[in-house]
Amino acid sequence: MKHLMSPLDLSVEELDRLLDLANDIEAHPSRYSHSCEGKKLATLFYEPSTRTRLSFEAAMLNLGGSVLGFSSADSSSAAKGESVSDTIRIISCYADICAMRHPKEGAPLVASMKSSIPVINAGDGGHQHPTQTLTDLLTIRSLKGRLGGFTIGLCGDLKFGRTVHSLIQALVRYPNVRFVLISPEELRLPDNVRDGVLKKSHQEFREEVRLEDAIPELDLLYMTRVQKERFFNEEDYIRMKDFYILDAEKMKLASEDMLVLHPLPRVNEISTEVDDDPRAVYFKQAQYGVYVRMALILTLLGIEV
Ligand code: CP
Repeated sequence: MKHLMSPLDLSVEELDRLLDLANDIEAHPSRYSHSCEGKKLATLFYEPSTRTRLSFEAAMLNLGGSVLGFSSADSSSAAKGESVSDTIRIISCYADICAMRHPKEGAPLVASMKSSIPVINAGDGGHQHPTQTLTDLLTIRSLKGRLGGFTIGLCGDLKFGRTVHSLIQALVRYPNVRFVLISPEELRLPDNVRDGVLKKSHQEFREEVRLEDAIPELDLLYMTRVQKERFFNEEDYIRMKDFYILDAEKMKLASEDMLVLHPLPRVNEISTEVDDDPRAVYFKQAQYGVYVRMALILTLLGIEV
């Protein structure tokens, strides 16, 4: 049995196989429509979610399996004080695999240590969001044709944005990826990612404050939301929340084949006028999230089609 806590839990070869499987599922969905019959996925979400929870559920339903779970801590016995360790022991009796989102960093890891079913980290605090990274990698590989050999701009809340932390960890393993880290001073990438991942792997990167200064050289622009729920002080959030707004004017500075990704949800950081630009692929990205989660469920359950 294997769990997924971080993108590094998969080798580059395993990741390639997973993305190949996701592409095959996209091309031939009916081949997979009964592959999880009799299997159950539990979604244990202690924090709000639209895409991750529902795409996991859609993935399992598309595979012919069933789903159960809760979508807030308040609607589970966590509200009565039950620990994550006890909860996962119980869920192990009810389901074959589970996806857990939790506001505390490391909670899914704690669960995995007590679990007798595979546990997938569906986002833990400001730490990691590995299945968003799988979604991002599938989007980039499907639309750009490669992973590596590009300049990617990561823009917005790089401090609390767990999707950025996981994506950087994954991308440093591919050749010739140049990173431009675009954020206000107060929302810069944490030292453990800048020094512990980028510098440690001798990765080419630089930090910018102005999006306009970076956008012309980018092959990929990964926008992120300012993570309101991680701020201690509402005033700081209000000051930061509209620091970046990608609009049609700024898109004129970008190359014709630069792709705009965003894990979503979007607040104000991408103007809706950008949605019709063919370079805006964030809604397509959410669709890739279903295929890659189908591939992940099959892989962790050891089901071959
Ligand atoms: N991208 C993402 O994690 O979205 P949700 O918070 O809606 O799951």
